[in-house]
Formats: sequence, C-alpha cells, structure tokens
Amino acid sequence: MILVTGGAGFIGSNFVLDWLAAFDDPIINLDALTYAGNLENLAALDGDPRHVFIHGSIGDFERVAALLATHQPRAIVHFAAESHVDRSIHGPEDFIQTNIVGTFRLLEAARAYWNGLDEARKAAFRFLHVSTDEVYGSLLPGDAAFTEAHRYEPNSPYSASKAASDHLARAYHHTYGLPVLTTNCSNNYGPWQFPEKLIPLVIHNALAGKPLPIYGDGQQIRDWLYVADHCRAIRRVIEAGKPGETYNIGGWNEKTNLDVVKTLCAMLDELQPRTDGQAYTTQITFVTDRPGHDRRYAIDASKLERQLGWKPAETFETGIEKTVRWYLDHQAWVNNVTSGAYREWVGKHYGAPA
Ligand SMILES: NC(=O)c1ccc[n+]([C@@H]2O[C@H](COP(=O)([O-])OP(=O)(O)OC[C@H]3O[C@@H](n4cnc5c(N)ncnc54)[C@H](O)[C@@H]3O)[C@@H](O)[C@H]2O)c1
Repeated sequence: MILVTGGAGFIGSNFVLDWLAAFDDPIINLDALTYAGNLENLAALDGDPRHVFIHGSIGDFERVAALLATHQPRAIVHFAAESHVDRSIHGPEDFIQTNIVGTFRLLEAARAYWNGLDEARKAAFRFLHVSTDEVYGSLLPGDAAFTEAHRYEPNSPYSASKAASDHLARAYHHTYGLPVLTTNCSNNYGPWQFPEKLIPLVIHNALAGKPLPIYGDGQQIRDWLYVADHCRAIRRVIEAGKPGETYNIGGWNEKTNLDVVKTLCAMLDELQPRTDGQAYTTQITFVTDRPGHDRRYAIDASKLERQLGWKPAETFETGIEKTVRWYLDHQAWVNNVTSGAYREWVGKHYGAPA
C-alpha cells in the first residue's frame, strides 16, 4: 500500500495509472479536488479495488494521521500542490497554504506515523517529495545545467513556495531521520494536463481557432520531459534512492517556447489541418511577458542516470507526437475541462474543494 497525494492532478493521475499497470500494491489517493484535480483522469480505475480515492486535504493533520493509521502505507508520494506560476503571481496565498503549510502538516503526520512503526518498517518507509527545477532560479545561455548542488534561487511565488517545502522535507530527514527523498523535475508534458499549461493550451487554442499566446519574445528555454518518464523515475527513486538525497529528473531536451509552439503547429498541420488550408502558425500572437519570467531552465539528470540507472525512454519528438495524438483522441476530456463541466460533477459528488 502506498499513499499518493494529488493523484487526481496531471502528473499524479499519470503516476497512479502507470503504477497500477506495473504493480499490484494498492494506492490510497488523497486529493482535495481543486480546479486542477479531475477524477475523469482516473475513470479507467472505476471499480478497481486497488485504487482508493479520498477527498481531503494534505493540510488536514487529523485526517491524514487517521488515513496513515488505517492503511499503514510503506511510502508516501507527495504530488499535491498549487502548480501554476501565473496563478501564483495573481494570488500567492493558496501557494503558501498548500505548498508550504500543507507540506508541513503532511510531514508532521508522516513523522508521527513513522515514529510508531517497528524498526524494520521504519527502515523501509519512504516519503518522496515531488518538486521542480524552478527552485534553482534562471540560467544564462552558456551556464551549465542545474545539478543537485545548485544554489536555490526561486523567482516566482510558486517556485519560492516549492523551495520552502523542499527545505522542510530536507529538515525532516536531517532532524528527525524521516526517510525523505526529493526529486526536482523539469517541465512535464503528456496526457491529462490541464489546458492552462503551454502544450495543452496551444493544442486546444489551435483547434478552436483562437490565438496562440506567446509570452515576450518566446525565447524562454525549458527542459521538457514526457510525463511517463517522470513517473518511472519516481518509481525508481522510491525503490532504490537513498533517503536524504535529492535527484534531478530531466529529459535533456532544451527548447525555446517558440520552438515548442512551432513544433505543435507543424504536427497539427499534418494530423488535423485547418479547413482553410492555412498554417496554424498564423494564430501565433506575442503577448506581454510574464513579470519576473525566468529565461532558462536546464536539468543535469546524470546523478539519477549514474546511480539509479534511469534514462528517459522518450525523445522530445516521440513524446510530443504521442501527446498531440492523445489530445486529438481525447477532445471530450478537453471539452469537459475547458467548459468547466467536470467542476459541476465534482460539486455534485464532493461539494467544494477539501
Ligand atoms: N507540471 C510540471 O511540469 C511539474 C514539473 C516538476 C514538478 N512538478 C510538481 O509535481 C507536482 C504535481 O504537478 P502537476 O502538474 O500534476 O499539478 P496539478 O496542478 O495538475 O495537480 C495538483 C493536484 O493536487 C491537488 N491538490 C491541491 N491542493 C491540495 C491539497 N491541499 N490537498 C490535497 N490535494 C491537493 C489538486 O486537486 C490536483 O489534483 C507538484 O508538486 C508540482 O510542483 C510539476
């Protein structure tokens, strides 16, 4: 049994689906179902006794403590977070509450549970804290990619809140001995990503005939990783990572935002051409840059490769093609998300976010 937090979000739901395809260990999935949580992502698991969904918040210490006592997981994989940089600029409060206070409460519940385990189960227990490369700040064009030793220099309220949670996770290992592992991953893309993030947003807007907004000059560089590769890396770190260590996860795929958008346009031109015969690039629109926008992130994932033998299976080209085809095949899901229909469903079944 493992406990996953945020397993109805983009990466969390991919993780839950991939995990249950690979192993039989059941998953307790604790998710508050904010706007970013969507149980439709997990519809394939309806009726599967190995998946137990719990509508609740990581910030609810008593609830989490009771869950841990009841289900006795051997690991916690912590995805739950507010994750969108733009939203953190417009309203940082939720990011502080969820990413910092929520992670603190989850760590406290994990510590209390772990302290009560016998020695063998204590030694085997793992708390995996999922984080981002954005905690390291921004690189200049010729700078070496981020290693795990890079200084923390977060620039947005989102990355600052994730950095704070990384420090808490680290301190719980250092001070209390809780077997914490932290992973810092680059930008993910793939199925079930909420269409506020660049890749699904561009695919959605392109097909809807809307502008494809690009911040500033579009020359911001990100390192892209196909989500299934991220999930596999996390499984590997739970299995073989050393408690107290951090592992960078990345795809060795640095691309400018403009190049990503042009690649998507070219792929859509081929797979679903516009009816007027025009190229999708004609929809590209440059908009005012995001305040404090980081210019470049690049991840050096060689520690994970060297020590735990992980390498991404997808190149950017293969991953992006799978992704575009997935969104074309799942237009009903996209429509439910963009129309807000899934929120009505959540409201009916679960009320407000936990
Ligand atoms: N998306 C990326 O490219 C990326 C890259 C590196 C790291 N990360 C990290 O991976 C994790 C998952 O990212 P994502 O893109 O899947 O995010 P997401 O926004 O798609 O999903 C977040 C999930 O957390 C849930 N949640 C929010 N607050 C909660 C709370 N208080 N209690 C329980 N559940 C709560 C939401 O309902 C949602 O299901 C985050 O920690 C993020 O920082 C993301």
